[in-house]
Amino acid sequence: MTKKALITGITGQDGAYLSEFLLKKGYKVYGAVRRTSSINTARLSEMGVLDDVELVSMDLAEITNIQRVIEKTEPDEIYNLAAQSFVHTSYEQPIYTSDIDGIGVTRILETIRNLGGTPKFYQASTSEMFGKAKESPQNEDTPFYPRSPYGVAKLYSHWMTVNYRESWGIHACSGILFNHESPLRGLEFVTRKISLGMAEIKNGKKDVINLGNLNAERDWGFAGDYVEAMWLMMQQEKSDDYIIATGQTHSVRFFAEQAAKVIGIDIEWDIDGLSERGFCNKTGKTIISVDSSFNRPAETEHLLGDASKAQKELGWNPSCDFESLVTMMVERDLERVKKGLVWF
Ligand code: NAP
Ligand code: GDD
Repeated sequence: MTKKALITGITGQDGAYLSEFLLKKGYKVYGAVRRTSSINTARLSEMGVLDDVELVSMDLAEITNIQRVIEKTEPDEIYNLAAQSFVHTSYEQPIYTSDIDGIGVTRILETIRNLGGTPKFYQASTSEMFGKAKESPQNEDTPFYPRSPYGVAKLYSHWMTVNYRESWGIHACSGILFNHESPLRGLEFVTRKISLGMAEIKNGKKDVINLGNLNAERDWGFAGDYVEAMWLMMQQEKSDDYIIATGQTHSVRFFAEQAAKVIGIDIEWDIDGLSERGFCNKTGKTIISVDSSFNRPAETEHLLGDASKAQKELGWNPSCDFESLVTMMVERDLERVKKGLVWF
């Protein structure tokens, strides 16, 4: 029988990759979208799956809406990807972020509980829960120390997922995913800001990319690899929590250097007191400048994941390395900028 999946947050980066992945596996895919004043299905279009998924209206703020959608669509698996996912915004909108990223998850879990414990449930947890990390690399046993309202809200929903598994026998998995990127990444995140910025510099449409903390380190993987891990977790007989990461970490500074190489520029750095700039070693032109307004009130400085449990139990391994990821992102943005097509 055809399996049915409901993806919340289907209009986001991971929603597009997961839709494509599940459709290829033969799933009927329902995608929950919240009401917005303009159409935001550009990623699904670019992925070529918009006509193959069935969109349903659902907002994580509204439990009656969630109940009706789950009862009507009767999914076998729910992938909860919906969230206010931008860490920086969570400092300005902590209550909204807590409601959607925290309580919103309990709304879904309560609905599943009231339906007798099915469907299976995947929660999009995050390495941001490690925050001021107590050890490196981080694994499933590393203590959490979130540094943002986003991280705190996600930690609440992580533990709710564990609690509903243990209390009510729900097949509920929490995927603790480290940063994953792609050409479909939102423009506010640093990797995409850099890849698009480099493409614009190459095409004479921009001079400088303004960034915040250049020394923050992230374990960056490819979103296409990470959605496979979500699915693998849901296929296990026993639900559990898994770290998904590449096991390599790089600074924002290094990401910018690698991205500049793709457009043929070698960056050198010039530090003068508190101000710093990155410039082209041939022309001397500044292409990176530091703007403290992008700094966070409390920073997650270093993330590095140990995904050995997922490798052993799920047979999951990332296929795309750091250099290929950076190249993929800059090259896609170069194509888009040339065609004047930058939608997200
Ligand atoms: P994204 O591109 O920002 O997508 C977020 C999705 O959530 C969008 O579809 C958005 O809809 C939807 N959404 C926001 N508020 C909602 C609400 N109130 N009701 C219903 N839907 C709502 O995020 P992503 O990168 O794909 O990440 C997917 C999930 O994984 C998120 O939960 C994120 O926190 C988590 N995560 C991401 C990473 C990463 O590195 N990408 C790592 C760890 C965990 P609109 O299109 O209408 O805005
Ligand atoms: N966004 C942004 N913009 N970040 C910058 C900038 C800038 O101009 N300059 C430096 N950074 C630094 C941030 O301070 C942070 O340390 C790092 O770059 C990464 O920032 P983001 O790309 O915004 O991602 P994030 O790590 O905060 O959050 C992402 O990954 C989490 C998993 O760890 C999001 O996808 C979250 O939803 C996800 O949970």
